[in-house]
Amino acid sequence: MAHLEPDKGPDHREPGRFTQLPRPNLEFTPELEAEMRPLYEKVKHVVTPMEWPHYAPLIKAINTLKKERNAVILAHNYMTPEIFHCVGDFQGDSLALAKEAARVDADVIVQAGVHFMAETSKLMNPDKTVLIPDMKAGCSLAESITAEDVRRLREAYPGVPIVTYVNTSAAVKAECDICCTSANAVKVVESLNAPRVLCIPDEYLANYVQTQTDVEIIAWKGRCEVHERFTAEEIQSMREAEPGLKVIAHPECPPEVIEIADFTGSTTGMINWTKEHKPAKVMLVTECSMSSNVAAELPETEFIRPCNLCPHMKRISLESLLDSLLYMQHEVTVDPDVAERARRAVERMVNLTN
Ligand code: 13P
Ligand code: SF4
Repeated sequence: MAHLEPDKGPDHREPGRFTQLPRPNLEFTPELEAEMRPLYEKVKHVVTPMEWPHYAPLIKAINTLKKERNAVILAHNYMTPEIFHCVGDFQGDSLALAKEAARVDADVIVQAGVHFMAETSKLMNPDKTVLIPDMKAGCSLAESITAEDVRRLREAYPGVPIVTYVNTSAAVKAECDICCTSANAVKVVESLNAPRVLCIPDEYLANYVQTQTDVEIIAWKGRCEVHERFTAEEIQSMREAEPGLKVIAHPECPPEVIEIADFTGSTTGMINWTKEHKPAKVMLVTECSMSSNVAAELPETEFIRPCNLCPHMKRISLESLLDSLLYMQHEVTVDPDVAERARRAVERMVNLTN
C-alpha cells in the first residue's frame, strides 16, 4: 500500500482545473510486496527481483491514480514490460490504439506512446483530456514532413490521392485523403481505386506496399531512425549463428531486410505471428521492448534480440506516467479546424478496417 504525503510537485501544473492530489509515498513494504505478487507473476520472466521493489510502488500509485482521475492508459507495443503489462489498460499497435481511442469511456486518456499517437487519440475524442507524459516523445517519421510539404505535393501531383501513415502530425493528416497504419497500408491504398497513389512519409513502408500491389506508389523520403539501422548482413549472420531462427520484420525496415524475413507485419501482426507459430527461436526485427513484452507471455520461445531502442518511446517511464496523472500533464491539444480535417482522414481508415 502506497502511503501519502503532502504534494511537493512541480510548479508547471495547472492549479484549479483539476483536483490536486497528494504525492504518494513510494515505499516497498512487505504488505505491498504481498499485494503486488500476482502482478509480478505476469512479468517475472522479464523483470528481475532486484528491479521489482522499485517498480511495484510506482505501479500501485499509478493504478490508484487512474481510478481517482477516471483515466485509462493506452500503451503501445513498444512500452517496457512494467508499463505494458502492469499499468496499460489497452495495448496494441497504432491501428488498435486509434480504434480504442474512439471507444474509450473515461474522462482522461494517458498516451503511453509518442506524440502523434496522443494527437490521434485527441482527434477521436475532442472532448476528453489527452495527456502525454513527455512532450518530447516525437518520431523521426512525423518530423520528416510538414503540412506545407503535402500542399506542394498536391500541386506537383494533381488528382493523385495522398495516403498518410499514422506516424505524422495532425496538421499533415489534415492535408491528406486518408490515413493508414502498417497493419492496413495495402488495403487502404487499394481502396482508393486509383492507378497512382502518394504514400507519405515512410519510404520503406511505401516500398513494402509497392511489393504487394499493382498500384503505382510514389514515396516520400522519410525514415524511421530505429528500423533503418537494421541490415541484411546483421540478420544473415544471426541466422548462421542460430540455426532454425525465424525472422519477423516490421515494414519500416529497409527492403533488403524485409526480403529475407519469414514474415512482415505491424507490431501486433508480428506478435500474433509469434504467438500462433511459437517458434523455438525468433528475432523480432523492431524496437527492443516488444520482444520483452512477448517473452513475458512465451517463456518457451527464445528471443534473439537485435535491439534497437526508440529514444522517443523510451521517454515514457513509470515515473513520468505517475507525474502525468498526478499533475495532469502534458495536455495534448489540436486546433479545431485542423482536427476536423485530420479526423476525416483517420475515420475514413477506421471505417474501412472495421
Ligand atoms: P505499429 O503501427 O506497427 O505499431 O508501428 C508504429 C511504430 O511507430 C513503429 O515504429
Ligand atoms: Fe517513430 Fe521509429 Fe520510434 Fe516508431 S520506432 S515512434 S516510427 S522513431
